[in-house]
Amino acid sequence: MKAVAWTKYGKPEDALKIIDAEKPVPKKNEVLIKVYSSTVTAGDVRLRASRVPTGFWLLTRLVFGLFKPRKTIPGMEFSGEVEAIGKEVSLFNIGDGVYGTSGVHLGAHAEYLCLPEKAAFIRKPDQISHNDAVASIFGGLTAIHFLKEKAKLGAGQNILINGASGAVGTAAIQLAKYLGAEVTGVCSTGNIEFIKSLGADKTVDYIRENIESSEEVYDFVLDTVGNIPLVRSKSLLKKHGKLISINDGLLENLSAVFNKKRLRGVAGESKEYLEFLKALVSNGDLKPAIDRVYPLKQIVDAHKYVDEGRKKGNVVISVVG
Ligand SMILES: NC(=O)c1ccc[n+]([C@@H]2O[C@H](COP(=O)([O-])OP(=O)(O)OC[C@H]3O[C@@H](n4cnc5c(N)ncnc54)[C@H](OP(=O)(O)O)[C@@H]3O)[C@@H](O)[C@H]2O)c1
Repeated sequence: MKAVAWTKYGKPEDALKIIDAEKPVPKKNEVLIKVYSSTVTAGDVRLRASRVPTGFWLLTRLVFGLFKPRKTIPGMEFSGEVEAIGKEVSLFNIGDGVYGTSGVHLGAHAEYLCLPEKAAFIRKPDQISHNDAVASIFGGLTAIHFLKEKAKLGAGQNILINGASGAVGTAAIQLAKYLGAEVTGVCSTGNIEFIKSLGADKTVDYIRENIESSEEVYDFVLDTVGNIPLVRSKSLLKKHGKLISINDGLLENLSAVFNKKRLRGVAGESKEYLEFLKALVSNGDLKPAIDRVYPLKQIVDAHKYVDEGRKKGNVVISVVG
């Protein structure tokens, strides 16, 4: 099968190449998935370059390989079809459309992937395309984790979303609107109309204005960019408002345990979150934003583009065709 090989930490052109790899065989509790679509996310490029938030370098290297990547095929998110199942598999049948994330197992940048049936993937309804399914995952799961589960955002509240045009921002705007909150989105001039089209009630163009200039205060500030430290957030938050920082280093994460003004951590992935997300996408409450689609053979170009940090929503990898 065609696959991406991740040979070292570094620049896309040094770290990634297309190879012929052996097609995996499912174990008794595993499902063999023919992958149609995948993504290159901010998480994928951080991992490839070993460019993780301060303090997480050693931990990440211990999980993914100290001197070179232990997992040789990168990629987390996939949408595809079940091609074979192990003899103990009961949740899926051959021919099912499925989508989800392989998490730290990686391996999604390939024509085939094997995962335990209990991993974070679910059935895909026919009316959701493979590209839309895969593009809903990264931002969708992150938004569900932080806004719905941790912040318990709801009607009557307001939220400022910094980095509103990225994968997390585009999903967060739509989830916040679905939950009944008022949304102010922060992005550059060229993306203002785009985030309005996703439901942002108010916008801040960070090229021309200061976020603080409106004097509005918020129940929550979601910072996906990493340039609103706690001290800056104070003037933006209501008395009991909270900063949701998703780019914190280890020290900030540890100190947040004792700081009630801050929500932090790492987004979870589960079948339950995916089912909630599937309902949002199926009902048209969340439209996955797709910026570009690259064929698998252009994986290096896809990584270079995501590395720029300016994508609008998601970058999809088309694995078939
Ligand atoms: N803790 C967790 O569990 C977790 C989960 C998911 C993601 N993350 C992290 O969250 C971050 C964001 O992820 P993502 O997928 O949304 O990234 P992304 O899609 O690459 O974000 C790109 C967007 O960021 C915007 N941006 C860049 N500089 C900005 C600035 N100064 N102010 C406002 N917006 C700016 C760009 O908009 P313009 O072109 O308009 O500037 C662009 O649309 C990543 O660092 C990722 O690692 C953490």
